[in-house]
Amino acid sequence: MAETAADPIAASEYNWTGEPRDPADIEAELRDDFDRDGLIGDNGGSLVVEFGDGTRIGTVGWRTERWGPSPGSRCFAFGIALLPGFRGKGYGTEAQRQLIDYLFEHTTTHRVQSDTAVDNPAERRSLQKTGMVEEGIVREAEWRNGAYHDHVLFSILRPEWEARLRSEFPDGA
Ligand SMILES: CC(C)(COP(=O)(O)OP(=O)(O)OC[C@H]1O[C@@H](n2cnc3c(N)ncnc32)[C@H](O)[C@@H]1OP(=O)(O)O)[C@@H](O)C(=O)NCCC(=O)NCCS
Repeated sequence: MAETAADPIAASEYNWTGEPRDPADIEAELRDDFDRDGLIGDNGGSLVVEFGDGTRIGTVGWRTERWGPSPGSRCFAFGIALLPGFRGKGYGTEAQRQLIDYLFEHTTTHRVQSDTAVDNPAERRSLQKTGMVEEGIVREAEWRNGAYHDHVLFSILRPEWEARLRSEFPDGA
């Protein structure tokens, strides 16, 4: 996790803020957060993406967003970073699909969303492949590396996720 936050290559141009930080500081913060809640709290969390044999290939993280004052307006927004050698092999799509499943299975949220820079075709395609719907452009939403960047907002709603499960497991298994 520290590597994907501290190293510009590991973070990728889309996650690198342009403001270098000491990797030891990031690791210390992560350790504090891990000791506090295991990096899974009510308002967000982080997980390592790993193979069955324990090889760690990246991270996913999520946080709560609210579109209105009612608790029912709460939803989750997620992001991802895979280490460079593991990109373009389908793992990112699978990891995000599993995270969507996790958030719908373990919470009552009606909506899961994610956004990415308009010029990030791999993530746009990957989000689309998870079954998320492209909703529109959020203009100059992100300040990154000395400039504002337009983002594309995607979401999947609980009934859409349930329909995806029914199509994947028609016999209810
Ligand atoms: C974005 C990311 C999570 C995607 O995961 P991934 O495992 O690399 O992607 P996948 O292999 O699952 O699928 C990528 C899809 O995008 C397509 N794609 C990749 N690069 C592309 C490009 N330059 N133009 C068009 N499509 C592209 C692939 O062809 C594939 O689609 P297909 O299966 O229909 O052919 C991963 O590349 C990554 O971590 N990148 C760096 C960090 C990042 O950008 N995070 C998101 C920031 S919001």
